Parts: sequence; C-alpha cells; structure tokens
Amino acid sequence: MSLRLAINGYGRIGRCFLRALHESPFRERYRVVAINEPADLASIAYLTRFDSTHGRFPGQVATTADGLLIDGEALTVTHAENPEAVDWAAMNLDVVVECSGRYGRRIELERFLKAGAPRVLLSHPGHSAEDVDATVVYGINHDALSGSERIVSNASCTTNAAVPVLAVLDEAFGLDHALLTTLHSAMNDQPLIDGYHHTDLRRTRSAMQSIIPVSTGLARGIERLLPQLAGRISAKAIRVPTHNVSALDIALTVRREVSVDSINGVLREAATTRFPGLLAWSEDPHASIDFNHDPHSAIVDASQTRASGNRLFSVLLWFDNEWGFASRMVDTLHHWQARRRAGAGTRIP
Ligand SMILES: NC(=O)c1ccc[n+]([C@@H]2O[C@H](COP(=O)([O-])OP(=O)(O)OC[C@H]3O[C@@H](n4cnc5c(N)ncnc54)[C@H](OP(=O)(O)O)[C@@H]3O)[C@@H](O)[C@H]2O)c1
Repeated sequence: MSLRLAINGYGRIGRCFLRALHESPFRERYRVVAINEPADLASIAYLTRFDSTHGRFPGQVATTADGLLIDGEALTVTHAENPEAVDWAAMNLDVVVECSGRYGRRIELERFLKAGAPRVLLSHPGHSAEDVDATVVYGINHDALSGSERIVSNASCTTNAAVPVLAVLDEAFGLDHALLTTLHSAMNDQPLIDGYHHTDLRRTRSAMQSIIPVSTGLARGIERLLPQLAGRISAKAIRVPTHNVSALDIALTVRREVSVDSINGVLREAATTRFPGLLAWSEDPHASIDFNHDPHSAIVDASQTRASGNRLFSVLLWFDNEWGFASRMVDTLHHWQARRRAGAGTRIP
C-alpha cells in the first residue's frame, strides 16, 4: 500500500519534490494526494506542466474541479495560508511535506500536527536544532532516524552539499578552521527588478542585475551535523544572477600537511565508495549550467582545488540547489518512513 503525502507550499522546491518523487524508483510507494498552495489552480497546473529550469513534466497533467490529475491520479488542491485551514486529518495522510519555508519554530510546526497532519518533513532547517525532532543530511546521519519522529528537517541545499565533504576532510586531515562562500542562484525571495523586502535591504535589489550578498545560517546548520567543528566554521552567501545551480567555495586549514593531490585523492575516494549517488567527482572544464537537473548533493570540481603552503587549501563544489535538494528530500522521506514501518512491524517495501 502506498503512503499518502501532501505538499504545503508548491513553489520551486514543492514542485521539484513532486517531480523528483515522480521520477524516483520509489514512485509506486508514495502518492501525493494533496497540495496546499495559495496560487490559483490554473497556475499550479501550468507550472507543473512547464518549468523553465527543468523542462516539461514527464507525464500527463490535467485539472479537475478541485485539483489536479497527474497520470490519472487525483490530487486535491487547497489554497489556504495557514495550517488550520486545511483538513489534513480527512486526507488520511502519512506525511505533510512542508515547502513554503514559512514555519521554522516548533510552535509553528506543531500547528500542522494539531490540525491533523501526522508528520512533517521540512524543506529547510528548523529555527534551532530543538525546533525539530531531527535534522537530516542524507548520507551522514539518516541512519539515526528511528521512525518515531514527527517533525524532520532535510537541512538546506548548501548544508547537504557541504557536510559530506567537510566530514571526510576532517576525518582525513583534521580540520582546524573553515570559511565557506556560497555562490547561490537567484531565488523567489528576490525581485526581478528592485522592489520592497520586509527584512533584508539587499533583497530589495534586482536579482538579475547584481551579485548580492545575503545572510546565511550555513555555519550554524553545519555545526548541527558536525558538532565537533562548532566555533570553527564561518560562512557567507552571495546570490548571483543565474536561475539554478550553485557553487560552494570552501577554504580550510588543517592539522596535517596536505597537497592538492592528497585532498583530491580523499574526495575522489569519498565520491566513488562512501557517497555514491550523493557526491560526484568531475575533472571536466564545467560551467554551472552543466549541473542543471543533477541529483547529487554536490559535485567536486577537481580542477579547482588549490593549496597555499601545506595547511591552507580550498575546494570548489557544484550543486543543483533545487533538484539535488529535492532528490535528498525523497531519500530522507523514504528512509524515515521505512524505519517507521519497520518499527510498526510492517514489511519495508
Ligand atoms: N529554491 C531553492 O534552491 C531551495 C533549496 C533548498 C531549500 N529551499 C527552501 O525551501 C523553502 C521554499 O523555497 P522555494 O525556493 O521553493 O520558495 P518559493 O518558490 O517561493 O515557494 C514557496 C511557495 O509557498 C507558498 N506559500 C507561502 N506561504 C504559504 C503558506 N502559508 N502555506 C502554503 N504555501 C505558502 C508561496 O506562495 P507565495 O509566492 O504566494 O508566497 C510559494 O508558492 C524555503 O525555506 C527555502 O529556503 C529552497
């Protein structure tokens, strides 16, 4: 029997999640039965069918009186702006996949549970580690899920890219300090031309005209996953005028002597043996667009590893901030629910 899902917030990540699930090998085991998104039904159907970044939806999409029909399967669509306005209980759901980005504190997330959603998978980090039952970077700590959690965060796209690489470099060389700079594609919280933003003056500026530094919680997010590095990580984020695929430049100091070759050897080994499907390795002369629709959490660009002396070096990662992250949401969901069903004595599909 397939598990029943609802998506709350059907923007870039909500739509990518639906599609990543549709294209995944777990497709038959999950059914998205509802979407809650303030936009009108015609726009929701249209943006499901056509996507400027990922291309046409690989299936049939039609509308019904109260929802969508995707490859013949009906999804109810509601347009509420708060969790209490949706009758989640009546949908007999297993998980609400929260992709609006509007709820980060436990008290806010529990509104879904009180309104009848049994569990919530978040597309962003909780406001603090304690605001969720678990923060997962798939490949690093998904095995710690017991199945009994009610609110799970899939961390951020950048945390998913950075943590596997930092973990293996720390194990191999002993990280002293790290400075991370994300070059992140534009997002829907930036205007196309200058316009007002409620909390961040720099986000008032045209996304397509400037390179724009923005605030980031990346260092805190990494420390949640790798507490041994607490106090030794710092990060900044810069939005750049591309539509998708981001880069992460990580500068590190280490306790053992290193060379470009030894660093690349460790990362290549990690991509091939420890994190296949999550971390990839590339020696080709790439530009970011080459990784559009790439499902990896990160791709190491081998040609861009640099060393200054023998304890300071930097590595460059690429990641599809939409598709890579949505693919990890599918992985985390599947592992979490397999654990839950195993705990409940149900055969793991
Ligand atoms: N885009 C990425 O690369 C990326 C990667 C990883 C994680 N994330 C995280 O995922 C979250 C969503 O990001 P996104 O890029 O998908 O943003 P987005 O494109 O703006 O999508 C969010 C959608 O949720 C809708 N929404 C707003 N308030 C809602 C509510 N109360 N209930 C239900 N739906 C609501 C929005 O409608 P309106 O437009 O009308 O407000 C919008 O359609 C954020 O937390 C973000 O940090 C994003």
